[in-house]
Amino acid sequence: MKKRLLALSLLFAVFVKSQEISITPKPFRTIKMDGNFSITPATQIILEETSLEKTASFLNDYLQKFYGFKLQIIRNGGLRNKTNLIRLDLERIGNPIPGAYTMVIDRSSVSIGGDNSVGTFYGVQSLIQLLPLEKKQNLIIPCMEVEDKPRFAYRGMHLDVGRHFLPVEFIKKYIDFIALYKMNTFHWHLTEDQGWRIEIKKYPKLTEVGAFRNGTIIGHHPGTGNDNTKEGGFYTQEQVKDIVKYATDRFITVIPEIEMPGHASAAIAAYPQLSCFPEEPTKHLPKVVWNGDSTGKQVQQSWGVYPDVFSPSEYTFTFLQNVLDEVLQLFPSKYIHIGGDECPKDSWKRSDFCQKLIKENDLKDEHGLQSYFIQRIEKYLNSKGRQIIGWDEILEGGLAPNATVMSWRGEKGGIEAAKQKHNVIMTPGAWVYFDHSQTKNEDSVTIGGYTTVQKVYGYEPVPAEMTADDSKYVLGAQANVWTEYMSNPSKVEYMIFPRMSALSEVLWSTKEARNWADYEKRMLIDMKRYEWWGVTYSKAFFDPANK
Ligand code: ACM
Repeated sequence: MKKRLLALSLLFAVFVKSQEISITPKPFRTIKMDGNFSITPATQIILEETSLEKTASFLNDYLQKFYGFKLQIIRNGGLRNKTNLIRLDLERIGNPIPGAYTMVIDRSSVSIGGDNSVGTFYGVQSLIQLLPLEKKQNLIIPCMEVEDKPRFAYRGMHLDVGRHFLPVEFIKKYIDFIALYKMNTFHWHLTEDQGWRIEIKKYPKLTEVGAFRNGTIIGHHPGTGNDNTKEGGFYTQEQVKDIVKYATDRFITVIPEIEMPGHASAAIAAYPQLSCFPEEPTKHLPKVVWNGDSTGKQVQQSWGVYPDVFSPSEYTFTFLQNVLDEVLQLFPSKYIHIGGDECPKDSWKRSDFCQKLIKENDLKDEHGLQSYFIQRIEKYLNSKGRQIIGWDEILEGGLAPNATVMSWRGEKGGIEAAKQKHNVIMTPGAWVYFDHSQTKNEDSVTIGGYTTVQKVYGYEPVPAEMTADDSKYVLGAQANVWTEYMSNPSKVEYMIFPRMSALSEVLWSTKEARNWADYEKRMLIDMKRYEWWGVTYSKAFFDPANK
């Protein structure tokens, strides 16, 4: 008898567990109801609005990929079941930030109503998170009512493909991760000292020369050797268009970053005239073991910051405007990221041309020259109807009039920019640099730092010392994924998961709703999903050293 009771209670525990509602980021309001709905191959998707076609296809593609079946889509007027339906619709709520939705699951149907088409898409993402994590043809989900809406308008993930080139298929996977967590911006860092990754037809050497390096250091910078292996790759314009479309179908904006005036070694290797000193060979730390040709301008083989930056010459401005003209054709985003960080002023100090330019334009110093540089580019992009985003160094020497600031060296830059009434995106290193280690017992080479999933979860994008008025300028936040020590997709996945899930809740859910104990349970279910998807993730959370 006792045995039977135990078996029953175990069964119940399993049943209750399977009925747990696990949606991340946590919805605004969820009411659990009795009963279940079951998605089977006979379930129909009822499409009430043609603008939701892509979302229906997304759901079908997901079901096909993970469960091996697709649902019939019934458009307006088609012959529909009386029950066993998934209705995709619009239901205006009027939330100031796009993406709100309601979802009602009862015994006979699922009904998702988006405030706009992105809201319906997010409803589908919530539905997907309720599906069982095993392949079957009878997908039981608990009945419930969900009312949901985002907190911040900008919910971003950055990815550096300059330090290590990552293949198109992975970029698409990354975009799917962003969609899963109801994030809406992919900041694609496309140019670096170690590689230029985007085809520019007017300047073919950018990719012929700039997209490849002759080797990469081994271990932590400056390294213990060189792998003596040519590294590189780039995205053709056709591939970029395909990726932007893929993201757009998932309601994700792709913001390209074309770095200037620093982090420009790869561009300079391709076109030495972009440097203040075209005849000088590329420098690197004496400890760096170099592979291959070290004469002339070279694509860097180690990490860090390099003094050979863009000269603020007419040649450079014409070059950058021509590059940006092609970039604007490929990326419809309102924002173009122009970098602006970590630009040493050594070359500008040494250059007679730069010193003359400072005097002629009545600039205070080299910081003034950086501001002049950024403002010229801003003016150009504004004339094309676009806005710039720059790292917080663009505050130095005076902020360009319409710029949005990405605060990465802590919160200070963000606070200052908001005070100056500029929009701000918070990306402070201590909380949202996903290149930091997740463990105290470092288990792979990382750039340094120590940022646990708990720390990410505890991040508050509106700094405590910001006034209520200034906080209106905080558009949201973003995690940055610099890939010096991530040479392949698995390592990127390992570094972003589960931290990305924690960040999504910071950005989507209300501040009051944040509850670590509640999130922790859902994170464990997310981990099961990573396993089921075959995605790598960090288990540092389970290491007592990290508690
Ligand atoms: C940065 O991490 N250099 C923006």
